[in-house]
Amino acid sequence: MIIEVTPDRYSECLAVLRAGFATEVTEFGITRENTPSNPAFWGDAAIPTVVSRGYGLFAVEEDGRILGCAFAGPSKSRPGVWSLRHLAVDPTTRHAGHGAALVAEGARRAGAAGAEVLAIGIVAENARLSEWYRRLGFESIGTNRYPGLVFTVERMDLLLTNRDDVAICRYANN
Ligand SMILES: CC(C)(COP(=O)(O)OP(=O)(O)OC[C@H]1O[C@@H](n2cnc3c(N)ncnc32)[C@H](O)[C@@H]1OP(=O)(O)O)[C@@H](O)C(=O)NCCC(=O)NCCS
Repeated sequence: MIIEVTPDRYSECLAVLRAGFATEVTEFGITRENTPSNPAFWGDAAIPTVVSRGYGLFAVEEDGRILGCAFAGPSKSRPGVWSLRHLAVDPTTRHAGHGAALVAEGARRAGAAGAEVLAIGIVAENARLSEWYRRLGFESIGTNRYPGLVFTVERMDLLLTNRDDVAICRYANN
């Protein structure tokens, strides 16, 4: 079940985000020193800060427990585009479709708000993640290197305009 996360449950989401991204940071040489903004290193203020910038926080809940969460909201730099950010699923409950369900919810929210594209930025070196997003219907639109970051950022878009043809929307309807 997808729920809207209220402030009283931010600490549960924070635990999921920290544990979820911890698996990624160890694999890609990301540390608190070189990438303090990674959710693996977030403090208590991080979730309220992202929410205050206009991103909604939603989660997969099962038996009263939050298993995964993500943020989505309008892009600050691209009109007609929504961004899906900080998607994480607890490592103990992966491979059950919760990640795809959260992507589908982000796409649903973006489409309902009139956006034409749902955008993400990922660690380009994470080929498994990139391939997964491709399977969900995203296309790579380019890569960026940023000073200080130890990885390349791959930008990917999911077109929402022809929703019937979008793999993630087919998933959401199943
Ligand atoms: C990516 C992620 C959200 C997927 O969650 P999930 O609930 O397992 O997703 P689904 O069950 O819908 O899909 C599973 C697929 O995700 C892909 N995947 C991508 N990254 C993965 C990872 N770090 N670990 C395991 N699977 C991963 C695999 O292809 C997997 O396929 P499989 O089940 O056939 O092995 C989860 O792996 C995660 O939290 N990763 C760390 C944080 C991250 O990289 N977030 C994305 C930031 S944009």
